[in-house]
Amino acid sequence: MEDIYLKIQDVNKIYHNLLKEDTIALKDINLDVKQGEFISILGPSGCGKSTLLKILGGLEKLSSGTMEYKGGNDHELGFVFQDSVLLPWKNVQENAEFPLVIKKKLNDENKKKLDELLELAGLSEFKTALPRELSGGMRQRVSIVRALSYDAPLLLMDEPFGALDAMTRDHLNEELLKIWQRTNKTIIFVTHSIEEATFLSDRVIVMSPRPGRIKEIVNIDLPRPRGEQTRNDERFAEYNKYLRGIIG
Ligand SMILES: Nc1ncnc2c1ncn2[C@@H]1O[C@H](COP(=O)(O)OP(=O)(O)O)[C@@H](O)[C@H]1O
Ligand SMILES: [Mg+2]
Repeated sequence: MEDIYLKIQDVNKIYHNLLKEDTIALKDINLDVKQGEFISILGPSGCGKSTLLKILGGLEKLSSGTMEYKGGNDHELGFVFQDSVLLPWKNVQENAEFPLVIKKKLNDENKKKLDELLELAGLSEFKTALPRELSGGMRQRVSIVRALSYDAPLLLMDEPFGALDAMTRDHLNEELLKIWQRTNKTIIFVTHSIEEATFLSDRVIVMSPRPGRIKEIVNIDLPRPRGEQTRNDERFAEYNKYLRGIIG
């Protein structure tokens, strides 16, 4: 599999419902993800994005097909959900280090790394703040730091910035890319925002509505590092227009 990090072949997912017809959530999904790649999954609500991400994260079983990670399917990953799901009675520091505590890996080295991540995420001054004292954007940054804290090679993110205003989202997108470039992780990022997918990704997987299929895979050939200049690049607008055309 060389530099292929993840390979899924002919994946289908059917939800069996008690009182209504079965839902075919995913149909014939084939995808290779390269090590260190930033992939976005883009599509309208209900097209199976979260289902695909949950399958990739082992939180949901596939109905048929295969999924194969380089090095085996039993590996560590970080998951960031749309809602930050922080423990309300724990402060920023305690929430961020929670996975390390559970894994009994809160040693000096990991504490130092966590400090650096909190710094990188602009949270150093808020370590003792409780979630309710933070803005939505800050809470989401805590959940990203938490997912990065144990240095899993794979990060799965399900519309992590979907509930935020556009300016905060743009800012966090840039921070996420900085972290990605520093840590060399593979990131699979679900979004329904075309601009967000273009800005972040090496490749955008465009999904069609039910049953969720891959409609097209688009290479985003914009230079990195990306930042404000990317959004002003006319090719950025062209990619957005192209993606909008596919989604229809
Ligand atoms: N646990 C479940 N049980 C039954 N149906 C589900 C379940 N989860 C999702 N679905 C259905 O599968 C389809 C895809 O859902 P989802 O993956 O959440 O889409 P998206 O994240 O793109 O909005 C939808 O029709 C949804 O109602
Ligand atoms: Mg979803």
